[in-house]
Amino acid sequence: RLNSIAKEKGYFSYFIGGLVRDWVLKKPIKDIDMVIQGDALEIAKIYGEKYNISVQYFPRFQTAKIPLDDRIFNNIDLISTRKEIYEFPGALPKIIEGNLKDDLYRRDFSINTLCYSLNSFKIIDLFQGEKDIKNKLIRVLYSKSFMDDPTRILRAIRFKNRFEFKYEAYTKEYMIEAINKKAFATISSDRIKKELILCLQEEKVKEILMDFIEFNIIETLFFIKDISENQFIWLEKVCKIIKNKNKVLVILLIVFFNANQESIEKFCDFYQINKDYKKLLISNKEVFLKIKNELKKNNLTPFEIYRLFSSLKEEQIIFLNIYLQEKFFIKKFLEYYVNELRDVHIFITGKDLISLGIPPGPIYDVIFKRVLKNKINLGWKTKEKEIEY
Ligand code: CTP
Repeated sequence: RLNSIAKEKGYFSYFIGGLVRDWVLKKPIKDIDMVIQGDALEIAKIYGEKYNISVQYFPRFQTAKIPLDDRIFNNIDLISTRKEIYEFPGALPKIIEGNLKDDLYRRDFSINTLCYSLNSFKIIDLFQGEKDIKNKLIRVLYSKSFMDDPTRILRAIRFKNRFEFKYEAYTKEYMIEAINKKAFATISSDRIKKELILCLQEEKVKEILMDFIEFNIIETLFFIKDISENQFIWLEKVCKIIKNKNKVLVILLIVFFNANQESIEKFCDFYQINKDYKKLLISNKEVFLKIKNELKKNNLTPFEIYRLFSSLKEEQIIFLNIYLQEKFFIKKFLEYYVNELRDVHIFITGKDLISLGIPPGPIYDVIFKRVLKNKINLGWKTKEKEIEY
């Protein structure tokens, strides 16, 4: 429907970017990006009015987001073909009108320049994207690409590892050159953070971090000097077991496991990471060592075991489980906590205590804790309904 409106106006429209790349690669498609050689906002507006759909407009960027009634794709991003001009390294580009070729040339890598014409129903490949996909190459379109937009260094590493491609030889040289010229210093921490998070969400995060080390950017990005063999083993295990939103924090817990407080503080301050996460990253190793030592004691009661683990965040438990992997004897305590103790709750409330004639005060907390302690120590299982206390 969008395409026929565009056609009526005499414009050409194309699917573009990741969509066409992933289609050629036979990978699942995540987003739909459509580019119009013409006025995309005008098309979005006509479409919205005609079909009574509320379209989001971003006039500053000359883009629109059109919601879709679809279970897989939430919306289509619509954009006018454009030319981008970088006034200095790392600057946000100035956008001016451009044709399809300009729009493809402004993009990061040849594999992202493929587009599919909705007029001729053919793939248009002006920068040999298909050949690079076939040869498994990440290739920039011009030598200053990484200087213009240093986030592309992280994007190159991300795509190369996601698709198990290689860096085209010149592209690798340009990357190294931009890194040596301190390209990252020309952009805001916020832009680095966004790309870094995308890297840490990737399945091949271990390989991505290995590339950070190879390109000598681990210190620039994380303020640490290195990642040990052991940490890489943990990372690999984590990637096998989790894919959800907890992943980034677990990875950070691993990456900073051997880091000193100063590095963690620099990292958190640079990326404006909140105080709670900062505290968590700083204290994590100490907490783990303490738990390990405590668990060596004999005769711990179930409640003492509960107390050791109950202050941990889910992400710490995931990592601790990997960290303790070789130490089977200790690990069984963690399993016992997760399977038997973690979900024990008390059902007694303040109202119950009032009805027993106990005046409200700090004593309530003591009573709740004692009830929980007895419930755990007496071996009441999870999800059991409250019993007479
Ligand atoms: N792009 C670029 N330079 C950037 C960011 C984006 O040239 N620094 C271009 C690329 O052509 C990319 C398109 O904008 O294909 C859309 O960006 P994004 O959604 O980040 O990329 P995808 O290729 O869709 O990545 P993903 O598969 O991770 O969603």
